[in-house]
Amino acid sequence: MEYNKEKSITRRDFLNHAGKVGGAVAVWSAMESLGLLGNSMASAKDFTAPKKSELAIKNNNGKKVIILGAGIAGMAAAYELGKAGYDCRILEARNRTGGRNWTVRKGTSETEINGVKQTSNFDKGQYMNAGPARIPQNHVTLDYCRELGVELEVFANSNEFSYYYHENAGPLSNQKLRKGTVKADTRGYVSELLAKVADKTALDSPLSKDDIERLRIYLKSEGDLSSDYLYKGSSRRGYKELPGGGLQPGTTDTPFALTELLQSGMMNNISGDYSFTQQPMMFQPVGGMDQIPKALEEKLSGLITFGAEVQEIRQSADGVRIVYTTKENRKTKEITGDYCICTIPLPVLKNIPADFSAPMKNAIKSIEYATTGKIGFQFNNRFWEQDDRILGGITTTNMDISQIWYPSNGYLTQKGVLIGYYNFGQNAIDYGNLSLSQRHTRALSQGGKIHPQFTKEIENSFSVAWHKIKYTEGGWAEYSSSDRKNYYHILNEPQGRIHLAGEHLSYLTGWMAGAFESARIVVSRIHEEVLKEGKVHSKVG
Ligand code: ALA
Repeated sequence: MEYNKEKSITRRDFLNHAGKVGGAVAVWSAMESLGLLGNSMASAKDFTAPKKSELAIKNNNGKKVIILGAGIAGMAAAYELGKAGYDCRILEARNRTGGRNWTVRKGTSETEINGVKQTSNFDKGQYMNAGPARIPQNHVTLDYCRELGVELEVFANSNEFSYYYHENAGPLSNQKLRKGTVKADTRGYVSELLAKVADKTALDSPLSKDDIERLRIYLKSEGDLSSDYLYKGSSRRGYKELPGGGLQPGTTDTPFALTELLQSGMMNNISGDYSFTQQPMMFQPVGGMDQIPKALEEKLSGLITFGAEVQEIRQSADGVRIVYTTKENRKTKEITGDYCICTIPLPVLKNIPADFSAPMKNAIKSIEYATTGKIGFQFNNRFWEQDDRILGGITTTNMDISQIWYPSNGYLTQKGVLIGYYNFGQNAIDYGNLSLSQRHTRALSQGGKIHPQFTKEIENSFSVAWHKIKYTEGGWAEYSSSDRKNYYHILNEPQGRIHLAGEHLSYLTGWMAGAFESARIVVSRIHEEVLKEGKVHSKVG
């Protein structure tokens, strides 16, 4: 129908249209069917995730949906379908829910694909979020936290007190510099330069004289320039001696030279704090990110089969059939249903025989996943809080550890688990190729250049190379623009009775919100199909 061709059609537009052609009954039934924005002829790209409040389904049609994977997407799909009385069963290869949403605690064990096994020795109460670790404020994930009663606390994503530390970067090399200091100097110099050219005709802009003066006033405040519009340093960059009580007014220091800053390359890190998803203030569940899957799991009691490794994904005109093995005795079993929602990450899915079309199989194997790794270091005291006065936030470095994350919980308590590296690409591959003790030692010595306390205070560590984690084999889907053009729409198309869901079916890859939103779209689509009773589905592949 023509209204499906409008990608940006709103729910209101749709309901208005339905009202015009079918009267009040059509509007009512459109609302009944989940606030669906299209019909089954619409391609997946026409779908918009329904708003959270629109997902209250009322129909109970007795249809059975087999869901592959008890990560965020799989459990969100089962949870939403369950509200409508769908019979959902989840097969989960691991012995836990959450997938990449994984909080490592005392006793957590993992064997990487090459057979390297580790068990966490973190103290009771200490943990690391090995996968997702921060939630932006605009993400639907927070709506689920509210609905499921998952308590949140602030995750300090940006902290001006944390450091930049660059090696081989000119005169500022090998110095831990507060992010706020580097930012203040950068803003100062850039504002000064702009103020100098603001009133020159060379500044080819349609500004009036008054506007140019307003711009200069802004630049003065933006860069904390002196009355002659020069940058001479500022207390914003911090103090040599802090102001205090009595006769301590505080003393500021001279700024770094612009050329030093430019050579350091640190200025190029600043924009990392500006991206839409890297909001300075983000959120995390109190007690670990796995509180989200745990809350979902509680709603799905008895529906999840653990240790179920999917071997085949089959379908016919009237149903799906999933072949899987159980962990205990590797016995082969089968489960059948009306529909299947498959949330298995693509690097794993590509090796499972499935009744998919040839273009779908090709799309599945064409998408690369991010290589990424993390190490959690348990230290016996929080020297970064005591000595460096850093409470939460992230230090950024051009060393191969890339980032050090200070915990945004348990402030000023005795011990803490700090993320000693969070790296990507070749750095993650290199760390992943090291033995566990080599990862530990290398990250400790790199981080120790910033925090010399590392080697003295370390107690234990747990490291994760996501590309080596069974049942995931990567961090998140990494689409190039040509992948989006050539493959993404295929991955979003239902394959007969099988629908893919997960962060990889979203433009929010690498975020739980991508998994939630994708699950909601698939739930809507299946429900719409069910409403079109008697429709014949042909087998593909
Ligand atoms: N969403 C992931 C992160 O926060 C990629 O780092």
